[in-house]
Amino acid sequence: AMRFIYDCDPGADDALAMLLALGRRDALDMIAVTCVAGNVGLEPVVNNARRILELTGRQDIPVYSGAARPIMASRGRLSIMHGADGLAGSTLPAPTMPLSAGHAANEISRIARAEGKLHICATGPLTNLGLALLLDPELPDFISALTIMGGAAFCPGNTTPLAEFNFAVDPHAAAIVFDSGIPITMLGLDVTRQATVTEDMIRQVQAIDTPVAREAAHLLINYGSKDPCLHDPAAIAWMLKPEIFKTVPAHVSIYTDSGPAAGQVIAAVSERHLAGRAPNCSVATDVDADAFRRLFVSALS
Ligand code: BDR
Ligand code: CA
Repeated sequence: AMRFIYDCDPGADDALAMLLALGRRDALDMIAVTCVAGNVGLEPVVNNARRILELTGRQDIPVYSGAARPIMASRGRLSIMHGADGLAGSTLPAPTMPLSAGHAANEISRIARAEGKLHICATGPLTNLGLALLLDPELPDFISALTIMGGAAFCPGNTTPLAEFNFAVDPHAAAIVFDSGIPITMLGLDVTRQATVTEDMIRQVQAIDTPVAREAAHLLINYGSKDPCLHDPAAIAWMLKPEIFKTVPAHVSIYTDSGPAAGQVIAAVSERHLAGRAPNCSVATDVDADAFRRLFVSALS
């Protein structure tokens, strides 16, 4: 199974992504969860990550707390999509498992060095990864691939007209990550807008009728009614079944000046726009949405 760190801000769709990944232990080995403020503040985020791990009986996975705010802004912006608790009013109990000692940014670097060739999946603002790269300039040598949910390459944003939430919250961190040289696959709104929840999918998940499936159904219904896009599960789906996606090689840079374009993805694809630069990223443009939904439902079964 592919060993990876999951860097996230749960967040209803981050929680659904965790359930998808944890349901596929045959293929994915989540070796740590690193948390960042994003959809909600850092405290509910670290609680929600542990609530989901306890629901799935995976208290063995260490959870590290990370950045409480973006690099250059005194505070982030909270998402209105996930409810005040971040899990759309979930009835899951408060967590009892402890947080593991160490800051997420330091732990990313320590674990990557110990692993040698680590995969990281990031579905929140990229602050932890940005900090890790600043602290440890050799870190790219120890990360084989980065799967990122964030950005909008060829379509409008969901937070500003030009930017997607994760990149709008911390454009500077996103810029550090995209400039790092680590091979990236970007699952942005271009593709996650296609990965929608359907009534049929909800019924199928409800029919599974386990505690995990019941929580998933709660999240699909209550988050899905505000934002039908399963953004973060799409990133996990890419790691499980890349063949259901279409991608295009691009050179991606992130606009960091403050103002209305902050966090915008600048994606160069054509030879003219690449202007001699090598692509630094594979941008997902399409997904077979039915295959994606089947993958999700079967992982929970
Ligand atoms: C992203 O922003 C958050 O609200 C979601 O969890 C997802 O990571 C979508 O723009
Ligand atoms: Ca997220």
